Amino acid sequence: MKKSISALFIAATLIFSAATVFAASGASLFNSEGCIACHTINGQGGSVGPNLTHAGSKRSLSWIKTQIKNPGAHFASGSSITINGKSYMAIMPSHKHISASKLNALATYLESLK
Ligand code: HEC
Repeated sequence: MKKSISALFIAATLIFSAATVFAASGASLFNSEGCIACHTINGQGGSVGPNLTHAGSKRSLSWIKTQIKNPGAHFASGSSITINGKSYMAIMPSHKHISASKLNALATYLESLK
């Protein structure tokens, strides 16, 4: 009995650290994929696009994935839009060729920002 409880504990710890690493790689992709040039998270980044510090509080995982791959599905390219009371020109480039694993890591990271 004791043994299985400690095995469970170890398994839970492993899953938790794997989830942490996963989220961390999403954060680094935010830099390496160039998102930070236009978007700010926690006070760092550009302001061409909306601040994403709380991206996950209003957008779902699948919505964020679509936005990364094909922003035109949400906002007509070149149009003037309002997000959180601020206006933007919808010029986010589509990242059509991003790998599924990068897309997943990036979107999971953004969705975790509440
Ligand atoms: C050239 C500037 C630019 C780059 C680079 C860029 N974005 Fe954007 N992003 C925008 C703009 C402008 C918008 C407003 C909507 C649009 O243009 O589609 C936006 C919208 C978003 C939104 C929706 C925010 C909301 O609250 O509705 C998300 C999420 C997002 N971008 C994520 C990303 C990610 C992830 C990357 C990197 C893979 C990225 N963006 C790269 C400019 C950019």
